[in-house]
Amino acid sequence: MGTGAEEIAVTGEGDDGMKKPIRVAVTGAAGNIGYALLWRIASGDCFGTNQPVILQLLEIPPGMQRLDGVIMELKDSAFSLLHGIVGTDDPNIAFNEADAIFLVGSRPRTKDMDRSDLVAANGPIFVGQGKAIDAMASPNVKVVTVGNPCNTNALIACANAPSIPSRQFSAMTRLDQNRAVGQMAEHAGVPASKIHDVFIWGNHANTMYPDPRFATVDGKMATEIFDREWLQGSFLDTVATRGKAIIVARGASSAASAASAATDHMRDWWQGSNGRIVSMALPSEGWYGVPEGLVFSFPCRCENGDVIVVEDLPVDSFAQSKIDENVAVLLEEREAVSELLGS
Ligand code: NAD
Ligand code: LMR
Repeated sequence: MGTGAEEIAVTGEGDDGMKKPIRVAVTGAAGNIGYALLWRIASGDCFGTNQPVILQLLEIPPGMQRLDGVIMELKDSAFSLLHGIVGTDDPNIAFNEADAIFLVGSRPRTKDMDRSDLVAANGPIFVGQGKAIDAMASPNVKVVTVGNPCNTNALIACANAPSIPSRQFSAMTRLDQNRAVGQMAEHAGVPASKIHDVFIWGNHANTMYPDPRFATVDGKMATEIFDREWLQGSFLDTVATRGKAIIVARGASSAASAASAATDHMRDWWQGSNGRIVSMALPSEGWYGVPEGLVFSFPCRCENGDVIVVEDLPVDSFAQSKIDENVAVLLEEREAVSELLGS
């Protein structure tokens, strides 16, 4: 395939209660996360089983041959909701009229690195992609940044897309939330479905704070089920360092769980979180004293396509110290990329 060819022409609304197709862009589509994520999107897990999608897949030139193979496999999966596929190395084509964008394409770290060490290699990617989103995407586009360091990369993309409201940009801390749910479920001996309202403050980095204070386990407060020593000790450490543990064990960065979390993040944003608290890193509007513009994970609820930060939760001294720690790290990262933030 050449760059920018649209395969399978499609439109139409109304047959069998189906909606008009939406355009969903995924960058780094031939990478490991892409390989898991595209199948979740095409099967309806993200946007609903009555929502056809046109996938607009971006790669860099060395990835285009792998992308051809991925597109062949998508076609071979015969998804009824998949109404079109575009494969391209041009961000202007990938983001054209996009309704939802997953910014995945970028380098993963290796086991000797912190995520912030990736900023020099990955940060510049989000300048050009932010500009292309600004120029080409639907004015209502929803953007989730997965590529690391995802909070600061989202900040860069948002700063380079001044015509798109900053609330339409986000970074993914849902994987951290899902890890917290998994740890609590295992520790309590209950299925993950029994854990609600644990969420992440701050940066997708070792400083993050998985806040258990409002979480419930089978309807009971998590703080009554688990002792403080575990919650502030091995629970917190396991969640905060899980990415590195997976790289060490697998020899590669988390991919299927990351794709699953990206699906959850966008599904809840698109379809609603049903009153549940979910973690989304958003450009701060000063919530909880976090400096404006820093992309910071907050407790959120999603309704009617909007994200609402839950603004009235009490913050104790431990939570405040973790919020402060994350603000300090993100301010440093912002300073390090100041030249990428436009004028
Ligand atoms: P990967 O190396 O398997 O795939 C990345 C793909 O991106 C490659 O195919 C590459 O060709 C492509 N790419 C590189 N630069 C690009 C660009 N400018 N435009 C478009 N495509 C580009 O990596 P992966 O495992 O899929 O991980 C991708 C990113 O996601 C990494 O930065 C990783 O650290 C991050 N990640 C984040 C989370 C999270 O929770 N936020 C979780 C897991 C991984
Ligand atoms: C993760 O949390 O698994 C990802 O951010 C990958 C990483 O570098 O840890």
